[in-house]
Amino acid sequence: MKKFAIEMRSFWQAWLLVVLFLIVLAGSYAQSQSIGSPAPSSTISALNIDTTYLSPPLQFDFYATSCPEAPAIVSTMVMNATSYDFTVAPQLLRMFFHDCIVQGCDASLLLNSTLLYTNSPLYAEKDFQKNDRFDKFSFVDLIKQELESVCPGVVSCADILAMAAVSAIAATQGPEYQIELGRRDGLSSYQDNAQTHLPGFYLNVSGLLDSFNNAGLDIVDLVALSGAHTIGQGHCDSIQDRLQSPPIYPIYPSYFLNQMKTVCQTPDGTFDNNVVAIDMDVNSTFIFDNGYYKGLIAGVGLFTSDQFLYTDPRTMPLVELFAQNQELFFQQFGVSLRKMGKINVLTGTQGQIRQNCWVRNSNTADVDFLPRI
Ligand code: HEM
Repeated sequence: MKKFAIEMRSFWQAWLLVVLFLIVLAGSYAQSQSIGSPAPSSTISALNIDTTYLSPPLQFDFYATSCPEAPAIVSTMVMNATSYDFTVAPQLLRMFFHDCIVQGCDASLLLNSTLLYTNSPLYAEKDFQKNDRFDKFSFVDLIKQELESVCPGVVSCADILAMAAVSAIAATQGPEYQIELGRRDGLSSYQDNAQTHLPGFYLNVSGLLDSFNNAGLDIVDLVALSGAHTIGQGHCDSIQDRLQSPPIYPIYPSYFLNQMKTVCQTPDGTFDNNVVAIDMDVNSTFIFDNGYYKGLIAGVGLFTSDQFLYTDPRTMPLVELFAQNQELFFQQFGVSLRKMGKINVLTGTQGQIRQNCWVRNSNTADVDFLPRI
């Protein structure tokens, strides 16, 4: 009798496993159908797009009952802002990356430093030098204010960054991606974490992979997500390493090297650490397309980290694939962006929904905040 009971239990366990497997399979299929515009099957077969990790707890319709207007509000605000200031969209897309790769997508990037009673400031991610160029944090605060007026205490700052990133892509003529929502906001932000986890512009593919693998992203994600450099601008200090004499590998074509030297060096030949903005995708700076990969093939990837993608045999074939097939790039970028958007997310009762993106709810009474716009 006991043996029969054990056998019956194993039988039901096996069935449960089969049913669970089918549910997961159906879920990942359904999700894979809603990424941007579907690529033709011939292109999908060129790169086996892996969508199996794209599973709950985040959901596309997370705010369907609590704040159905949220995605449209974010999208409209990003569209409008980008139409009068073209630097808004690239910054929002970059912010999502800088938030997610450091400690997960928890809006830790948005928290201000604290100045405790001890007068010793705790520097936040925002204060790290690689985050210096962001000057649109106040725009995120505006989005938050608008959402708070419509649905108070409901939409997290972490989700605002996610929605703003996909809206930024649409605002620059890219695909209209869907992204899952339901992230909650973290309670901490440390400059040191940003220093450890944000990849440097001087890295080769192995260095970049260390950074991406550490966050659960793979080589395909690295090449696809680097395609974000199809929009926006860099500055001279991010190409210092490429203007040395003799220049270090990988070397710009001589016409481009001269151009960059003209922009970034003073007449006496010394490096001018000025704030001149340089287009990252020389073909189409503010259009989300596959021009970035075409630029790499032409040797004009702006940063060392960009150009290495076309010199390293592990990544070169992917660069060629995305340069040849924009639909495939769009498809894979959507998958990789959603994967990035799931790094260490807080859900359920973890973290909190901040009232203001720059401060934890609990701190308003006993901590001063260093203002940072
Ligand atoms: C692969 C490693 C990466 C490195 C080393 C890197 C590095 C950089 C650097 C150095 C800049 C320019 C900073 C400046 O000089 O002002 C930049 C800009 C930018 N990055 Fe990345 N990045 C990487 C990956 C990503 C990813 C994954 C995304 C988004 C998914 C992204 C989005 C952007 C955008 C949109 C800009 C332009 C920002 C603007 O115009 O204000 N980057 N990145």
